[in-house]
Amino acid sequence: MELNGKVVLLTGASRGIGRAVAEALVARGARLAAAATTTQPLEDLGAASVHAADLADPANALALAEEVEAAHGQVDVLINNAGVRVDQLITHAELADVDRSFQVNVLSPYVLAGRLAGPMAERGEGAMVNLVAPMVSPGRRGMGPYATSKAALDSLTNTLRQEVGGKGVAVFGFDPGWVRTDLAPDGQEEPGPVAERLLAHLEAGKGSRTPLS
Ligand SMILES: NC(=O)c1ccc[n+]([C@@H]2O[C@H](COP(=O)([O-])OP(=O)(O)OC[C@H]3O[C@@H](n4cnc5c(N)ncnc54)[C@H](OP(=O)(O)O)[C@@H]3O)[C@@H](O)[C@H]2O)c1
Repeated sequence: MELNGKVVLLTGASRGIGRAVAEALVARGARLAAAATTTQPLEDLGAASVHAADLADPANALALAEEVEAAHGQVDVLINNAGVRVDQLITHAELADVDRSFQVNVLSPYVLAGRLAGPMAERGEGAMVNLVAPMVSPGRRGMGPYATSKAALDSLTNTLRQEVGGKGVAVFGFDPGWVRTDLAPDGQEEPGPVAERLLAHLEAGKGSRTPLS
C-alpha cells in the first residue's frame, strides 16, 4: 500500500513507538489522524487531525472512529498502538488495573476494528495493525493484566484477519521487540527503526497469521 495521501488512524501517537510511527507517517505524506488521551502532545506532529480519546472507555473508541471518519471521509489504515502495562501478580489482582488493561489493550482496539473494518472490506482496500507482545502473551509471571490482555489481542487479530483478510484488508499483529519507552524503560532498541519496520510491512500490503516484527 502506498501511504502517501492515505488516512491513517493511529492511537497512542503521543509517546514511545506511537510517536515514532506518527513522525514516519507524516514524512511519507500520510493523512495522519493522531490520537492520545490529550491533544497537546500531538500538536507539533504535523498531523492532519488530532483527537483526544481516553481508551480506558471503549465508548470513546467508537466516538473516535466516528470523529475521524467524519473529518476525513474514510479511514484507510488503523494502527491500534495505545497500550498500558501493569505489572501485578494474579494473586494480588486489583480489579481496576485489570479492567483498565483490558479496556485499553483489547476492548478499544476491538471496537475500533469493528467499526472500521467493514467499510474497508466494502472498498476492497485497507489495513489493520495491532501492537502485540508475543514475548509475554503466552504467559509471564508478575505481568498478568498486560500478558492476558495481549493474548486476547492476538485472538482479535487472527479472528479479524479471517473475517476481512480475504477482502483486500491486510491484517497483522506487529511485534516491536523490546523498545526503550515509558512502558519498557529497560528496552534495547530506540523507537525510530521499529517504526520504519512497521511501515515497511504496511507498504508491503500483506496480512499475516503470525506476528510480523
Ligand atoms: N516497548 C516495548 O518494548 C513493547 C513491546 C511489545 C509491545 N509493545 C506495545 O507497543 C505499544 C506502544 O508501547 P510503547 O512502549 O510505545 O508505550 P508508551 O511509550 O508507554 O506509550 C503508550 C501510548 O499509549 C497511549 N495510551 C495509554 N493509555 C491510554 C488511554 N487510556 N487512552 C488512550 N491512549 C492511551 C499513551 O497516550 P498518553 O500519552 O495520552 O498517555 C501513549 O501514547 C503498546 O501497545 C505496547 O503494549 C511495546
